[in-house]
Formats: sequence, structure tokens, C-alpha cells
Amino acid sequence: MITSDLINKTILFVKQKLENAEGGHDWFHIERVYKNALLIANGESCDLTIVKLGALLHDIADSKFHDGDETVGPKIAREFLTSNAVDEATIQHVIGIIENISFKGGNTEKEFSSIELDIVQDADRLDAIGAIGIARAFNYGGFKNRPLYNPEIAPKLTMSKEEYKNSQAPTINHFYEKLLLLKDKMNTKTGKKIAQERHHFMVQFLSQFYAEWDGGK
Ligand code: ADP
Ligand code: NI
Repeated sequence: MITSDLINKTILFVKQKLENAEGGHDWFHIERVYKNALLIANGESCDLTIVKLGALLHDIADSKFHDGDETVGPKIAREFLTSNAVDEATIQHVIGIIENISFKGGNTEKEFSSIELDIVQDADRLDAIGAIGIARAFNYGGFKNRPLYNPEIAPKLTMSKEEYKNSQAPTINHFYEKLLLLKDKMNTKTGKKIAQERHHFMVQFLSQFYAEWDGGK
């Protein structure tokens, strides 16, 4: 199949799969990650088809919404790519991206690495910070029925995956547990630059938040 046809078909497939997804993981998240990935890829030497497929398929079945089952996404992606006669090497690379992109995976030794994974991971991380990142965090916190903030509950910097998932910690804590750490985890030069700007915006947001909390402004 011609590459542009495959990409268009993938876009339609992902849109349809994510029709009922919650706001932080819907098609628009994928579209933003896709655009971020293309922007980052501009400054790198890489295989654009892999970057596009990886960005489009990276959240096809988030384990958070499948009882922690991390095999669902790769399985769906493989079925889709196979049914479109994509070659095995490409399929394996795209699945490598899906399996290794998550932040939690970021703490363990990477089994798989490639510039295409680095690009898609940066693109996904950019969507977790800045104004969009703030909106997504509060959306997710609302979905989990978590409080916005509680000055008596301190952020916990080390948590097991299970604890993290079941935590009822306030959403503000998530900034210290994850979002403010992302700028130092970026892989690419473009990713690092954009992350700096978005990080700065979150720091300003937090300072305004605390000022308003205290009735200061
Ligand atoms: P992605 O699937 O895009 O890699 P995640 O699944 O880790 O990212 O998280 C999706 C969104 O939900 C992100 O914007 C993230 O910050 C937010 N999120 C995840 N866990 C929490 C949490 N404990 N509290 C608030 N927001 C969260
Ligand atoms: Ni994502």
C-alpha cells in the first residue's frame, strides 16, 4: 500500500477506536501527539512512516482502562497493521514504540530503543505538560474523583504502579510526582526546547494557584 494511504487508513481506524475515550486520551490527544511528533521529527534523521504509525497507535488501548492489561494495545495494533499488509519489521518497530512509550516504563531499563521511539515519547510527554497538560491532569483527576488540592497531603515521589493507579491523592500532587519531572526526561533537542517553555507555564500556574488558594489575589 502507498504510505499516505496507510497513514490515512490508520487515522480513520484510530478515530473510530477512540470514539468513546475520555477527554485526556481521545482522538484529539492523538492528533496533538501526531503533530508534535512531526515537528520534532523535522530536526532528526528518522523513518517518518514509523514515527507517524507510532504516534497514531501509541494509545490505541491504554492499560489504565483495560484492567492494567498492557498486551491489548500491541495486539490491536498488530492485527490492524497485518490486515493492511505492513511488513513485519515495521510492525515490530511500531509495537516496540507502543510497549516502551509510557512514563512508568521510563523508570525501568529500556528493552528497546530507537530515534523513532524517542520522538514519539517526547511528543506524548509534551502533551502531558503546559496548558494542555494541566487540563488533562484535572480531567483525569475528575475522572478518578480526586480532590484538586489538599495542603495536608504531601506528594509521594516513589510509588509502585499499583499505588499510583489506586491513589486518591489530590491532582496538584501529580505535578510533583510526574509533570514537573518531564522536562529533564526529554530525548530530542526540539522536545527539550518546547518542554522548557511548557514547564515554565506550569510553574507559573502553580504559583498563581497557591496565591488564590490563600486568598491572596
Ligand atoms: P499518556 O497515555 O498520554 O502517555 P498517561 O496515561 O500517563 O499519559 O496519562 C494521561 C494523562 O492523564 C496525562 O496528562 C497525565 O498527566 C494524566 N494523569 C495520569 N495520572 C494522573 C494522576 N494520578 N493525576 C492526575 N492526572 C494524571
Ligand atoms: Ni498518549
